[in-house]
Amino acid sequence: MDRLNIGVIGLGAIGQKHCSALAVLERATLCAVADVNANVLSTTAAQYRAAPYATADDLLKHPGLDAVVIATPDDLHRDACVLAAQHGKHILVEKPLATTIEDSQAIVAAAETAGVKLMVGFTLRFSLHYQQAKKAVADGVLGSLVSIFARRQNVISQADRLKGRCGVLMFLGPHDFDVMRWIVGSEPVSIYSQAATSVPSAYPIENETFTTIKFANGVVGCAQIGWYLQDKHPAGRDFKLDIVGDKGSLNLDQMRQGLEIYTATGAKFPSVSAGLVDEDRAFVDCILDHKPVPVSGSDGLAAVRMVLAAMTSIETGQPVSL
Ligand SMILES: NC(=O)c1ccc[n+]([C@@H]2O[C@H](COP(=O)([O-])OP(=O)(O)OC[C@H]3O[C@@H](n4cnc5c(N)ncnc54)[C@H](O)[C@@H]3O)[C@@H](O)[C@H]2O)c1
Repeated sequence: MDRLNIGVIGLGAIGQKHCSALAVLERATLCAVADVNANVLSTTAAQYRAAPYATADDLLKHPGLDAVVIATPDDLHRDACVLAAQHGKHILVEKPLATTIEDSQAIVAAAETAGVKLMVGFTLRFSLHYQQAKKAVADGVLGSLVSIFARRQNVISQADRLKGRCGVLMFLGPHDFDVMRWIVGSEPVSIYSQAATSVPSAYPIENETFTTIKFANGVVGCAQIGWYLQDKHPAGRDFKLDIVGDKGSLNLDQMRQGLEIYTATGAKFPSVSAGLVDEDRAFVDCILDHKPVPVSGSDGLAAVRMVLAAMTSIETGQPVSL
């Protein structure tokens, strides 16, 4: 096989980005798309000349289909992943892997039983900035690590877009929890999280959080995860990573990426990262080249454990041991 036939299930905000990423890959053909929303389905299918399906079940029967990207809402990942595995299709599932440990384990088990590849969409692992940070740490440039701080601030309208279907920890937390675990190279052993309660929210979920994480190797981490940036924010994001070691330190800023555009209507700091295209390419390549997935189901499960521990800690006011 020299080209992968791939389908996308769930054509919302990120599903659309996967479609456009897959469309530029040399070794993939976006042959099928599925969504329960008929309008979105027909527009997307026409745009990419892909076969439209109203359900995941129907898409999975598309002739010659090899693999799927699953980009449905979090709580639907389990059903779609298990079904895809049962149809023998390789899976790239969006983060979080699932919303419970049980669902996450069921997905991992289904992929193992079916012998299909399961990759979790941790886009930061494919961002040049984060890859450089990982390399600096792995090469010992910073010496022995002491601490790691991650910030992920998104725009305030994200919460309204998702209409309370998840809190910010489940939406953005998996990215940074995964990246911290990946870069520190050690498992989290204890998590303590607090959420701001100063501003009344339309949704009874956490919206601005600080989570401290103690790793097995002694490194201490802190993640600030929230979605209170104004929609007119010039970048629409404030993503940072600060790492301290005993021989050096590293500061990563994804808000400004070296391109700033100033006009009469204000400033813009566009993203120049190709993260999602590189993520999808890595998924396609690992299947065609018979290589291990770069991000595994157990990485996805580890991040879900961290998010759930942080949510429990907010609820109980106590640190949670992992
Ligand atoms: N990697 C990233 O940076 C990133 C960014 C955004 C979202 N996500 C993740 O991607 C997933 C989707 O998020 P989103 O923001 O795109 O959501 P969204 O609400 O914009 O899109 C979800 C889509 O799934 C469709 N859908 C719902 N039920 C379905 C079903 N049973 N079968 C087929 N389609 C169905 C909806 O009609 C909708 O078009 C979530 O898990 C989210 O956490 C990841």
